[in-house]
Amino acid sequence: MAKIHPHTKKIHPGKRAKRRASYGVGVNLKTLKNRARKEIKKTDNLKELNEVFKKYLGKRGELTRIFRSLEKLPKAKRIRIGKKVNELKNFLGIKFDQKAEVIKEKTQRKLEEKEWIDITAPGQKISPGHLHPLTQVQRKVEEIFQSMGFSVVEGPEIETEWYNFDALNIPKDHPARDLWDTLYLKIQNPKSKIQNLLLRTHTTPVDVRYMEKNNPPLRIIIPGRVFRHEATDASHESNFYQIDGLMVGNNISAANFKAIIQEFFQRFFEKPVEIRMRPGYFPFVEPGFEVDMTCLVCEGKGCSACSQTGWMEMMGAGMVHPNVFKAAGLTPHQYTGGGWQGFAFGMGMDRLAMMKYKINDIRLFYSGDLRFLVQF
Ligand code: PHE
Repeated sequence: MAKIHPHTKKIHPGKRAKRRASYGVGVNLKTLKNRARKEIKKTDNLKELNEVFKKYLGKRGELTRIFRSLEKLPKAKRIRIGKKVNELKNFLGIKFDQKAEVIKEKTQRKLEEKEWIDITAPGQKISPGHLHPLTQVQRKVEEIFQSMGFSVVEGPEIETEWYNFDALNIPKDHPARDLWDTLYLKIQNPKSKIQNLLLRTHTTPVDVRYMEKNNPPLRIIIPGRVFRHEATDASHESNFYQIDGLMVGNNISAANFKAIIQEFFQRFFEKPVEIRMRPGYFPFVEPGFEVDMTCLVCEGKGCSACSQTGWMEMMGAGMVHPNVFKAAGLTPHQYTGGGWQGFAFGMGMDRLAMMKYKINDIRLFYSGDLRFLVQF
């Protein structure tokens, strides 16, 4: 049987239209167009789209093949059909471009969705550290005294015998020196051959240091670290903290002291408390007091915490001794008129913290144990 060229092939008249639509290139361009459009539509990423592109417009794509087959056609037909194929090529080219745009936009949108930040959402909590209970207590004490006009002053932890003892009316071989278990340093004070250096046993030496440089009237508190050669137990540490206070003027009295200290304790413990002053001995004050405060546990009724007395021992205090003023270069109060007078007090910061937070062992403050520290 003779081979019939596709476009000359006799076919059923009903199929004529279709046959003609193949324009003699063996493919129905309309069908191809629809097929390509559908396939482009179905893609949803650039890789798929590229596959479809290759299939139709690639080097070995269907359209390229059609272009090649055009060569076999007579010129007029070639031009006419070539034009149609070209149109189809352009049409598909535009479709590919559009689809590529759509895909790119979609990918971009998805990316943005993924990277989207809800600026109204609560942040991730970073648990912050917090201040040590002793620091908190120190700040509270400072705040209360500052509100009453006191300035906060500091002094050196390594002290001379002069400021720690002599200037405070505690002469060299006086038994009162034994009231403080002192840690002496082997280094000599470079300024004086006879002066030993030591770790200060109290914050009171700063009273003298301050009065040497500042004339009364004055109101200061001195928080700071002190050291004693001590065996440690639940209520003793060789390293602890004190707060001293000093108020000097023309007529500052023990009554002023009582009012200020009572106000301080009430604000610090946030409870109404009473103060009582008993005679006490400290070489740098005269008269000297031991200051008691209403027991916080039983509110004065008497309990085991206060040995049934209803009182708690809180601090040492007294009227500044004339010799201390003299050591600082000031004139003490004269009965003939003039001169300075005032009160001084000293208390343990650890003890304040222990009473405020009901802590029964001073060593906990220095243990670095987080189970204890996180509670404050
Ligand atoms: N410095 C004394 C101590 O360490 C306390 C105190 C200070 C007493 C001021 C009286 C006046 O025990």
